[in-house]
Amino acid sequence: MQLHNREISLGMMIQDVTGKELLAINVFTESIRFLKDHFLEMFTDKKLGFTINDVFFVITVPAIWSDAAKQFMRVASEKAGIKSSQMMLAYEPEAAALFCSLLPEDQGIAKYFQERRRLMIVDLGGGTADITVVKVIKREEKLTYIEHVYRVTGGAWGGNQVNKNFEKFLELVFGNDVMDEFKRDYLSQYLEMMRDFEVQKKTLSTSGTKTGVGIRFGGDLRHIFKSKRGKDIKDELQDKLQGKVRITGDKLRFDLAIFKRFFQDCVKEIVNHINESFLKRGCAWPSAMILVGGFSDAPVIREAIVDAFPVIRDVVSPVATSLAVLKGSVIFGHEPAIVTGRVCRETLGLTLRRPYVPEGQTEKKTFKIDGQLQADKSFQKMFSINEIIKLGQTRTVAIQDLHTNKELRKNPKIIEVYASQDEDPKYITDAGCSLRGKITVNPPNGKWPENAEGFIDMETGGTEIIVRYRDKHSGQITEETIDFM
Ligand SMILES: Nc1ncnc2c1ncn2[C@@H]1O[C@H](COP(=O)(O)OP(=O)(O)OP(=O)(O)O)[C@@H](O)[C@H]1O
Ligand SMILES: [Mg+2]
Repeated sequence: MQLHNREISLGMMIQDVTGKELLAINVFTESIRFLKDHFLEMFTDKKLGFTINDVFFVITVPAIWSDAAKQFMRVASEKAGIKSSQMMLAYEPEAAALFCSLLPEDQGIAKYFQERRRLMIVDLGGGTADITVVKVIKREEKLTYIEHVYRVTGGAWGGNQVNKNFEKFLELVFGNDVMDEFKRDYLSQYLEMMRDFEVQKKTLSTSGTKTGVGIRFGGDLRHIFKSKRGKDIKDELQDKLQGKVRITGDKLRFDLAIFKRFFQDCVKEIVNHINESFLKRGCAWPSAMILVGGFSDAPVIREAIVDAFPVIRDVVSPVATSLAVLKGSVIFGHEPAIVTGRVCRETLGLTLRRPYVPEGQTEKKTFKIDGQLQADKSFQKMFSINEIIKLGQTRTVAIQDLHTNKELRKNPKIIEVYASQDEDPKYITDAGCSLRGKITVNPPNGKWPENAEGFIDMETGGTEIIVRYRDKHSGQITEETIDFM
């Protein structure tokens, strides 16, 4: 979630609950390292005779993450001791869908995965909610091939938002200064309170006779409030909330209706977003809506979705929704080709220096290199937004450079990758175009020939973009990476 919708860099900082700043890459690296080491310990204990070299790792990410966020995860995994060649990224909703498609018939969900059927996968996690519409391409006994119908969309409306709303509530009622002191001096009590909130959130039922929810809170919150405001929090709650939230024993007691409000903005955003998704090309009337991710276990969310879309008769989930992603990604790691096509989320292109062509190009888009007039800033489109790209499908662009200056021949070629939400941008300076990353191509054998010629191949059908440079003169083919950070 910390990696969604923000500028990503290796120097980026994130905050812990007390507001202390930490390097994000270290937090991610150590989390992955912990999981990896724990896993290795488990199978070393079982004496299965494997080493880390026998393991291929699949790191799952929300499907709406940017290329930079995905690169960040790859770097963190490498720093955690997983070789780049021994890992891949998997999109969480795809993994969940693959898992569902292979469930035993008596679990009911696999029956929706019939050839040519379209299914909407709604992945409601902790940080993000992603919506993916897939079509079943082929069904085999042990494998189901799927393809995206529309680009993945979504936003930051996962279950953590509910916890954040609770925190905001505490700050509003007791004051930031009180909460800051409580977190600073009684962190374990604060964490205990948040853990209890998490338990209550997860067990909240919409049926039954329960009229309220109690959250255990730390006694020292009461003391801090009293010393700062000269008032008991019991009276403060009575004054501010007229008994809808009150203290009983060691608990903060919420009327059910008030507690449900913590879910309100998520429910609204998720329902709105599903609604909008139905209007997108090929997304109306899916055969079923499959809810996955831990947050979809919340009855409040599930009921809101069912109520909002009575036309979708089948709103279903596998048992243990959050494990669906984990298990599905193991399947995906073995057979990544089962997702046969994905839809571009943005138009991607390169900028290259090419010989000047006067038509339609203005003076200011040209410049001189080695005495030759060049056209620059043109957007060399490789993939269009909303285009379905099949796995393995490659786009190629020829590149050519004249180097009369011998010194410049040793320099790598930097090719910039630009993105736009427009289908057909002409120049990288057009409104809405932005720099996404850079490809660095080193000269074959250390030096470019006077007339350097070659091809850039780009493949975007997988979970990560693959780039190759094919040099025309030396015949050398090199795998290149796009640096998105
Ligand atoms: N029964 C439940 N009721 C309400 N919320 C739940 C329930 N079970 C899990 N959650 C919430 O689901 C979220 C975790 O879901 P999940 O494990 O799918 O997330 P994730 O995949 O780690 O996150 P993301 O997909 O955003 O990266 C947490 O916010 C958790 O509180
Ligand atoms: Mg998830």
